[in-house]
Amino acid sequence: MDITLKEYSDFQDFLRRSCGIEIGENKQYLVKNRLSGVLREFNLASYSELVSHLEVHSVFSNRLKSKVIDAMTTNETFWFRDDSQFLALKNEVLPELFMKTRGVIKIWSAACSSGQEPYTMSMCVEEMKRFKGPPLNVQIVGTDISEAIINVARTSVYSDMAINRGLDSKVSALYFQKVEAGYQLKSEIAQRVRFQQLNLLQSFSGMGRFDIIFCRNVLIYFSDEVKRDILRRLADALEPGGYLFLSSTESVPMDITALVPVRGKQARYFKKVG
Ligand SMILES: C[S@@+](CC[C@H](N)C(=O)[O-])C[C@H]1O[C@@H](n2cnc3c(N)ncnc32)[C@H](O)[C@@H]1O
Repeated sequence: MDITLKEYSDFQDFLRRSCGIEIGENKQYLVKNRLSGVLREFNLASYSELVSHLEVHSVFSNRLKSKVIDAMTTNETFWFRDDSQFLALKNEVLPELFMKTRGVIKIWSAACSSGQEPYTMSMCVEEMKRFKGPPLNVQIVGTDISEAIINVARTSVYSDMAINRGLDSKVSALYFQKVEAGYQLKSEIAQRVRFQQLNLLQSFSGMGRFDIIFCRNVLIYFSDEVKRDILRRLADALEPGGYLFLSSTESVPMDITALVPVRGKQARYFKKVG
């Protein structure tokens, strides 16, 4: 089904307002690819019909909106992605925070996709415990805009292909057991993590404060203005002295002075000052 320029521009506008994602010009093929199944499923005859449903509130429209957002978000993720950051977490940041707080350390994986990022954090904590590190008490929360992907994360069951992305066989043998649907993460790793649906465009002040936040490979989809707004609010959500990890290609603009770059031994991250 074809998409006119007007339909495309209305759809771009919906996506920007609802989840911050900028799809840019001339990406009609992408929208058509990702949404053809949704149009069929909801029995919609044109993109105009789709866009008009997206602008109203009803049970049908709300279900449609989540399906559209699920289809338009990129959930690419894997275990130990950018592994130098997990080395920094394990060898620099967690030991320092433990010495400082000696209490519960709270970590937030914002835009966690199917859970590999927060579960990798939990594996790092487990590894520190196995090697007789400090008696860490760590709570991890993973959030994502997509309810569907959060539900995948909650199952903590992964396919052969997902398991093989970033995990060596020793680690997978240690932390997973074979089940009919794939590989189930062992409860000692999974129980440290809880999941919640959350749109970074909306207020997250109700989430409380965190010692560490990972917000990786998501800000790239947003405009500069949205990125800055989210970074300012992430700084507010950090405890003083807490740490923010972005992906290695992303940075915090200089005018956001609450976050200063730290050149750790293994990776670069940002510290909340003040
Ligand atoms: C490429 S994945 C990154 C996953 C993980 N952080 C990593 O680096 O491997 C990006 C995730 O951002 C989520 N996302 C996109 N827009 C969002 C928004 N406005 N609020 C929260 N999550 C969002 C997507 O659903 C997707 O799961």
